[in-house]
Amino acid sequence: MRMISGADRLGGALLAAALLALAFQPTDATWWLVRTPGILALLLSACALMLQPDAKGRSWHRYIGSFAIVAVSLHVLAVAGFEPSFWRWLDGAVPVEIIAGIVAALALFATLAVRRALTSPKSLILHRIAGFMVVVAAALHVAFIAGTHAAILGFLLAGMLILVFAALLPERRKLILVALPTVLLGIIAALATGPMAQLRLASLRSSPIDHANFNHGDHTGFVCTACHHNFTDRTGKENCLTCHKALSDSESMRIDRLFHAFCSDCHRREALAGRKSGPIDHCTACHGT
Ligand code: HEC
Ligand code: HEC
Ligand code: HEC
Ligand code: HEC
Repeated sequence: MRMISGADRLGGALLAAALLALAFQPTDATWWLVRTPGILALLLSACALMLQPDAKGRSWHRYIGSFAIVAVSLHVLAVAGFEPSFWRWLDGAVPVEIIAGIVAALALFATLAVRRALTSPKSLILHRIAGFMVVVAAALHVAFIAGTHAAILGFLLAGMLILVFAALLPERRKLILVALPTVLLGIIAALATGPMAQLRLASLRSSPIDHANFNHGDHTGFVCTACHHNFTDRTGKENCLTCHKALSDSESMRIDRLFHAFCSDCHRREALAGRKSGPIDHCTACHGT
């Protein structure tokens, strides 16, 4: 087994701290079904990276990897099964953080396929590339989903980077291990933000408005301008949603990202302060009828 280095400990500690902080963020009761296996899957993938086997075969690496596959399967099943709104994201306007999640899950399954099919040390390189991609893509997925909390985001990405570098250091064929995933992730990133993004965002702009169960009557404790920046700046008196629909022409201005942060951040703050609040992550609470 590869020795666990000081860098591994630092990276692992940062990642664990970020995931622990994430686990303590308030959320809706049902969302724990989605959150718990998701956090576990990232943690187990990172452990598999640290505990790599040597030539002598069986090791914790294999068991941990198998548990990670179970965890990610539960995570995907929970969100697809219990949160029907999730499928609307796959209708065309897939957000980049969901693309990152799908890449992470597919790469994790790819490590399994490669391990079964190939045993020579040369072909094991593919298994390793897939392994590195799992951790990078999963960390990006979690960081962007949890996205509004800068400290969690920073710890998560820093921990992941340190772990990946620590795992790369003892490798002999660094170039291919770095180049191939970088090119692959680069292509995916280009598709996610370039011309493909325009295609995806156009479908978002043309879909009908979803009022997401918003009701002024539930929000009488706030002054109008706590929400209506349009009453004070010169953007106009239009409805928030129709105006922001039309503005959804980039990943950072898309209506779902903006409003998920806007609505859920306040609900999360209220929940943290121990007050009654609205839904945070549970899609159906806002998008259900
Ligand atoms: C908690 C945030 C929040 C507060 C506080 C708030 N609003 Fe709104 N308001 C919204 C949202 C979100 C919409 C879009 C709702 C929709 O279309 O489903 C909206 C829509 C509106 C609209 C447009 C309705 C339409 O479809 O034409 C008006 C007018 C409006 N609000 C007035 C007010 C006034 C006046 C106050 C203060 C008394 C106020 N709002 C307080 C969030 C808020
Ligand atoms: C007529 C158009 C229009 C209306 C109506 C409108 N907005 Fe905006 N909104 C904008 C524009 C343009 C920006 C980006 C430029 C800026 O920051 O001023 C923006 C920015 C935002 C941001 C991001 C701010 C930031 O600093 O990142 C949020 C959140 C937001 N709007 C929420 C709302 C809500 C909630 C409502 C209704 C209660 C609303 N907007 C009504 C045009 C509009
Ligand atoms: C400034 C803070 C704030 C913002 C912004 C905000 N909410 Fe709320 N929301 C609350 C609070 C507080 C409650 C709890 C009210 C209560 O039950 O007394 C609530 C309750 C709710 C509820 C639950 C109502 C119920 O019957 O349990 C829904 C749904 C909701 N909000 C949707 C939204 C949506 C959608 C947005 C964004 C467009 C939004 N909220 C933005 C503070 C906010
Ligand atoms: C706090 C309430 C709230 C929660 C929780 C919430 N959303 Fe939203 N969502 C909104 C609001 C508000 C909008 C903007 C309305 C719109 O796009 O018409 C939105 C927009 C969207 C859109 C874009 C719809 C469109 O075509 O314009 C999708 C897709 C979406 N949400 C999916 C989800 C998923 C998946 C979840 C759960 C992981 C979720 N939402 C949780 C409030 C919420």
